[in-house]
Amino acid sequence: MGPAQETLLIPLYGRAVETRKRHPMARDPRAVEIVEAIDYDFAKFDGDRSLEGSVLRGLIFDHWVAGFLREHPGGTVVEIGAGLNTRFERLDNGACHWVELDLPDSMELRRKLFQESDRRSMIAASVVDDTWAARVREHPAPYFFVAEAVLIYLTEADARGVVGRIRDDFPDATLAFDTWGEWILRNQRRRDQRRRDPLRKMSATLEWACDDPREIESWHPGVTLSAGHTLATPPRAVRTALPLRMRALLPVMRSLPQTRAYRLNLFTLQTSSSSAR
Ligand SMILES: C[S@@+](CC[C@H](N)C(=O)[O-])C[C@H]1O[C@@H](n2cnc3c(N)ncnc32)[C@H](O)[C@@H]1O
Repeated sequence: MGPAQETLLIPLYGRAVETRKRHPMARDPRAVEIVEAIDYDFAKFDGDRSLEGSVLRGLIFDHWVAGFLREHPGGTVVEIGAGLNTRFERLDNGACHWVELDLPDSMELRRKLFQESDRRSMIAASVVDDTWAARVREHPAPYFFVAEAVLIYLTEADARGVVGRIRDDFPDATLAFDTWGEWILRNQRRRDQRRRDPLRKMSATLEWACDDPREIESWHPGVTLSAGHTLATPPRAVRTALPLRMRALLPVMRSLPQTRAYRLNLFTLQTSSSSAR
């Protein structure tokens, strides 16, 4: 497993640890089962703050996906860089379609733990390849693409290419992904050397920085930022459902440079022909 793939263990473990807490932000029994089934030294992540951050991040993405499924119960969610995410298990409404895409070695692991069905497909490919769009189109429109902690491991040019290709191939799609600001990249090396950081124990590097997600609108015509949050300013529905200990932390987090530099973004993607309709 390469370093970018190994990062998928952090959010998985974050959800498992959270589930075992007395007042969890979220319960994910499937994540607990998977952690127990994989032979890996997860204990080295114990105590890391970023575990909770990855759970909160997942809740914000879940909130967006759930909103899409309320409006389009039979639509298709495309999970780019799915890792060992259990979002289908968390949000399946019995009618939606789901496509999970990841690099071949990550997907090989995923296939051992999750089952395909007539509504759920798995694709082993890089998101930068042009091989997967046709497979996704076997599932019905509209499409919601979610790339949670994935595009940051590409080069900026590749991330830009991915956004452009989704816009061109899936008119009127929605795309949710997160961005890391300069502060985080600048401090990456120092942070990696800190005592209790999971990424210190791996060598995955973040590839590009974005301080203002509105800049992504200029990547291609028709790309519009429709919502944006930091972990300290989650959507109201997410915030009010948090346990008290987390809600109390939000004002403290708000002032931290690393919180301000990490953003979760929701984009609508229209081609010129779809916007003219
Ligand atoms: C930090 S993990 C996030 C996993 C998952 N999205 C989650 O939140 O649990 C990053 C994931 O991106 C995947 N990934 C990295 N580069 C990729 C690429 N070029 N195409 C598809 N997936 C990629 C990795 O294999 C890994 O599963």
